[in-house]
Amino acid sequence: MVKPGRASQGFRMADFSLERLLGGLTPARFLAEYWQRRPLLVRQALPGFGDWLDRDGLATLAQRDDAESRLVRFRRGRCELEHGPFTAEQLRALPKRHWSLLVSGVNHLLDEGDRLLRRFDFIPRARLDDLMVSDAPPGGGIGPHFDSYDVFLIQGRGRRRWEISAQDDLTLVEDAPLRILRNFRVDDSWVLEPGDMLYLPPRLAHNGVALTACMTWSVGFRAPKADEIAGRFLDHLHDHLELDGLYADPGLRQPAHAGEIPAAMLDWAAQTIRTLRWGKRDIADFLGRYLSEPKPHVFFDPPRRPLSLAMFAQRAAKQGVALDARSQLLFRGRVYFINGERVELDAAGARALRALADRRELPADACAEALMPLLHDWYRAGYLTLGSA
Ligand code: SIN
Ligand code: CO
Repeated sequence: MVKPGRASQGFRMADFSLERLLGGLTPARFLAEYWQRRPLLVRQALPGFGDWLDRDGLATLAQRDDAESRLVRFRRGRCELEHGPFTAEQLRALPKRHWSLLVSGVNHLLDEGDRLLRRFDFIPRARLDDLMVSDAPPGGGIGPHFDSYDVFLIQGRGRRRWEISAQDDLTLVEDAPLRILRNFRVDDSWVLEPGDMLYLPPRLAHNGVALTACMTWSVGFRAPKADEIAGRFLDHLHDHLELDGLYADPGLRQPAHAGEIPAAMLDWAAQTIRTLRWGKRDIADFLGRYLSEPKPHVFFDPPRRPLSLAMFAQRAAKQGVALDARSQLLFRGRVYFINGERVELDAAGARALRALADRRELPADACAEALMPLLHDWYRAGYLTLGSA
């Protein structure tokens, strides 16, 4: 985790106002009228925003192998995509125009990014994907496209023109490494200045073109895809399957066709598969693990010389604990899921742990004695740290 590159003279998290972020709307009204439905432009949602990272700061993140970075370039009208990590030389050699550097998961790499993301907790964390930051010179962007995500585009440094279109024609350019729309028809457009924010629902076509050197911060919300959820659930079932038995065919008769699948084998397979049963609890177990699973490039840093349980408990009772920015903690009833792992608690433990899942911090007086062994395990895995207060 790095600290912001420069002391911010502009926006500070202490000045954050949810009412201003949503342009005076309450979260309930935003959710009822805009979320998943229509775009919302908020001027000065985060006044003075944009100083947390400059171009060099983002380029430094793009060189890390624990960051997911991409470089999009347009050369002779053709889109090219490269994946990071990049070297400083590669980034220094970029031309003056027509590229965009994008770094995902900035909430894992920048303290302030993590804190900003937490302010979006009027939307369930199970929907949250990450904070992505892009940098582009004048003319830079990733081309007209649509996302399957809900996204809040916050303008950092510089100015960017956003064009949107409610078109149904979502035909893509063939053979492009990114999903770029072949026919983009602009319905509306706005120039965003630092601190302005544009919310876009999924599948709304859009195109952001940098007017000056420009950085955009995207708070993205994922929506699980039906085929992926079903496929991954079947993988989960497989991993947790306890099924004995082996096909047997004593008394086998010589077949008329050696190449034909025997009817008895088909009946046995059908009967075996029919014995598979699952309920909502199995699905909740799968969903919790799936939604809390870290992305492939995410690794935790366990403490090199961990405190003993007794020492940890003593300190946690004074300082509280805080989730590591990379940790995802979700719950359903008494079952908790952290970074793909499942833990079932008793009713009191489950109640006590809710604050950690909701606010990502557990104050000292909420660190109940009974929770200490679990918190200590998570501390040893690098999933949480001792708090600062
Ligand atoms: C960008 O920051 O250039 C892309 C964001 C988006 O269009 O989703
Ligand atoms: Co987009």
